[in-house]
Amino acid sequence: MKTLVLYATQYGYAADCAAQLKAELAGDVTLVDLGKQNAPELQSYDAVIVGGSIYMGRVQAKVSAFCAAHEGELLQKTLGLYLCCGLPQNLEQCLETSFPAKLRARAKAVGCFGGELRTARMKPMHKLIANVMQKAGGKSGIEPPKANPQAVLDFAAAMNA
Ligand SMILES: Cc1cc2nc3c(=O)[nH]c(=O)nc-3n(C[C@H](O)[C@H](O)[C@H](O)COP(=O)(O)O)c2cc1C
Repeated sequence: MKTLVLYATQYGYAADCAAQLKAELAGDVTLVDLGKQNAPELQSYDAVIVGGSIYMGRVQAKVSAFCAAHEGELLQKTLGLYLCCGLPQNLEQCLETSFPAKLRARAKAVGCFGGELRTARMKPMHKLIANVMQKAGGKSGIEPPKANPQAVLDFAAAMNA
């Protein structure tokens, strides 16, 4: 089984999740950061996993553009989709804006891996928004963004099944 994991990330959390998937998935797994590399031809892969992180309600443009351009090919693969996000309560909406309906319906696994606000590395505007998210969360009782490593394990188990 050959699996390709294509992802985009701003501050590395979605990349760390991809690395964790590589450790958990059976067979030969290749990771490609769409922000740094072009996607390889999909024909030599049995399974493709596409993931990214949510900023202002949307996944990275490279992720949605890739899905739109390769929808037909992706529908022929064992497919997995994942999102990293700070507000998992909005997951359904984020999935709808991130991945075409046919891919969501076809996917063997759809994962929400939670999120991390890596403020030390953020550009100033993102740091400001991250601080607002953390403070607003505290006031309204909504949990601040939190990693969900169990969701990564569950996703890998579903892909391996
Ligand atoms: C500026 C900014 C905007 C964000 N917008 C959203 C959002 O609209 N919805 C959400 O669920 N999470 C949002 N997040 C949380 C990120 O999705 C989360 O921190 C994620 O883990 C980032 O992953 P990355 O390090 O791979 O980029 C936002 C974070 C930042 C810093």
